[in-house]
Amino acid sequence: EDGITVGELAEKIGQTPANVIKVLFMLGTMVTINSSLDDEQVELICLEYGYESKKKVVVSEINFEEIEIVDDEADLVSRPPVVTIMGHVDHGKTTLLDSIRKSKVVDGEFGGITQHIGAYQVEVNGKKVTFLDTPGHEAFTAMRARGAQVTDIVIIVVAADDGVMPQTKEAVDHALAAGVPIVVAVNKIDKEGADPERIKGEMSELGLMPEEWGGDTVYCNISAKKGIGISELLETLTVVAELADLKANPKRYAYGSVVEGRLDKGRGPVATLLVQNGTLRSGDPIVVGTAFGRVRQMLDDSGRDLKEAGPSTPVEITGLNEVPVAGDKFMAFETEKTARHVGEERQKAKQELDRGVSSAMSLDDLFNQI
Ligand code: GTP
Ligand code: MG
Repeated sequence: EDGITVGELAEKIGQTPANVIKVLFMLGTMVTINSSLDDEQVELICLEYGYESKKKVVVSEINFEEIEIVDDEADLVSRPPVVTIMGHVDHGKTTLLDSIRKSKVVDGEFGGITQHIGAYQVEVNGKKVTFLDTPGHEAFTAMRARGAQVTDIVIIVVAADDGVMPQTKEAVDHALAAGVPIVVAVNKIDKEGADPERIKGEMSELGLMPEEWGGDTVYCNISAKKGIGISELLETLTVVAELADLKANPKRYAYGSVVEGRLDKGRGPVATLLVQNGTLRSGDPIVVGTAFGRVRQMLDDSGRDLKEAGPSTPVEITGLNEVPVAGDKFMAFETEKTARHVGEERQKAKQELDRGVSSAMSLDDLFNQI
């Protein structure tokens, strides 16, 4: 029995294990969170929640994957890596992001009127690196559950004075499951009692054996607060990225994921997008999740106007008819008519999905009355 477990399936479709257990109970099967499910059970659960199990793609997303554009080999160029920072509470993720950004912003704009967007790009020895500033496990899990694999490299931050904690383990599990290269940043080495070697031992038990011990994980000792080891960490990232040989096609219509969405009083729906492939241009007709519109204003991570954004570029855009959510996918289209049509179809499908979920909720209600 090596099928998917109740817990794993629940995570994939964004439901609580309790909900999945209840639905199966209503269908006459008693299971626990660790029970393996057979294909038929998976199918039933997926149907119940409006997912297509084979494709692991939400029906409401009318599958951008189906609009497959095969890139011509000759059009592919190197693209910057997208890096996510994860780790236990208070181990220094935000401080590290700040430190990286400060160390790389030379024009003095940082700290001024620079507006914060949920993703940014820095340059290391002439090579760009993109960071996602949504390090929470929830955002990461949500993106993964929705099939939006956006990260190329994960940095796991572990405080050298604290060691491996529950969320460190979780982060390692997520990163290993995503199958992306992991770099361990042993942070707070400036603190009394910091013991980087001990951290290596603890992390090895989670499957991340350091290179110097014969494994293949790179460890960097840093102090995010004092700025120690940051440039070495950045250089490591560029080396890891080079090995990964990341490519994209800037000549196709843009495609990517939502990092953040919010409603701005003056500007309307605002979305931070990560262009994963293609080039997004201001004025492009676009579908984002179930929202659609034309890219009206496009800003980079320093709030500067952009006319176009290539692969791995984070941008903030306006011009959508509603606010998308993190993990939603977006795609640019040739005409506004197509974008509107696709947007409306997806909106309809989502409403059907929502109705499906609410019928599942009434099953729950029934269960609660037993
Ligand atoms: P959450 O977002 O709550 O999960 O925390 P975080 O991982 O983002 O940690 P954050 O960057 O907020 O840092 C937590 C505390 O540790 C802050 O008080 C930082 O100043 C401190 N800190 C972070 N890095 C270092 C470091 O290298 N050395 C020392 N001494 N303190 C640090
Ligand atoms: Mg933080």
